[in-house]
Amino acid sequence: MSDLATHRGRRRRRGIAAAALLVPLALAGCGGEQNALDAHSHPAADIANLFWVMTGVAFGGLGLVTGLLVLAWVRRDKRGFGADPDDPHPGERAGWWMVLGMGVVFPLTVIVALFIVSDGLIINVTQAPAASKTAMTVDVTGHQWYWAFSYPGTKAVTADELHIPVGTPIDLVVRTADVIHSFWVPELNRKIDTIPGHPNRILLYANRAGLYRGQCAEYCGLQHAHMSMLVIAQPKAQFEAWLRGQSKPAPPPSSSLARAGERVFVNGPCSSCHTIRGTSASGYVGPDLTHLASRKTLGALTIRNTPANLAHWIVGSQQIKPGNEMPDLNLNPAQLRAVVAYLEGLK
Ligand code: CUA
Repeated sequence: MSDLATHRGRRRRRGIAAAALLVPLALAGCGGEQNALDAHSHPAADIANLFWVMTGVAFGGLGLVTGLLVLAWVRRDKRGFGADPDDPHPGERAGWWMVLGMGVVFPLTVIVALFIVSDGLIINVTQAPAASKTAMTVDVTGHQWYWAFSYPGTKAVTADELHIPVGTPIDLVVRTADVIHSFWVPELNRKIDTIPGHPNRILLYANRAGLYRGQCAEYCGLQHAHMSMLVIAQPKAQFEAWLRGQSKPAPPPSSSLARAGERVFVNGPCSSCHTIRGTSASGYVGPDLTHLASRKTLGALTIRNTPANLAHWIVGSQQIKPGNEMPDLNLNPAQLRAVVAYLEGLK
């Protein structure tokens, strides 16, 4: 082989090795605001610790088996430990004990211990606490494909973005309007399924103010992947101000363009699917839009909530999120401008 070919081969092998090393780095990029190992509550920390214990035990097992295989290969021509030189089947007795010890007793002990830790301890600590031990309740309803959040005792209803006070245990009651979804914010707690006709509960607690991304974790149809949610944990005073604002009806439109938009919205088909409190729009198929402009995203975190994206969503939501319930309403450009101006004012 020429020097050049050897050089190329070496470079290729180095390239493959570098690519292999980059895989964990690329996977690490999956973290961000949705990282099950970056725990911000007691239950999430217990789940993360369980993951590390399970991983440690699995790698310990792998190391042990690999070590024994290597040892067997290294000693392939030697007689068994303490074998009788006259024994016609040397090592058979030691092998029998090895199979019983390492093949039956050891794995059984490890698996039973892991079962007790995971099913006995972790399931218990991540179980929803009694409602009397939490400071407030939030109702969650999964829809194909968005999340509705309401705050009992107030009129506030939001979609996809759940505000909570930091350091406060919250009783989250999850329901579904259609199929089974699963509410999962990995940094805060385990998953909880939304079962038709059966409300489920889970503790929601954040020990630090910030954003926590979550994702529907049960396949629920075409746009399952675009059914995310954002938990926004805020200092208590900030949260209470937010809740007071969200409890109010929508502010009246402040310009003639926005007033025209309100008329298009309320008198047209939009109002048969969406509610805007303070107007006659009281549909319940799609998200409540009373304070739409205060949200960061549209379509369950599919796109950012900007005027251009909102306009694109109104006329082309089927391109952005195919299969969702919102039809193309065939608004003319003037109507579209007016509706966007109106909705942008719903802070
Ligand atoms: Cu909702 Cu998957």
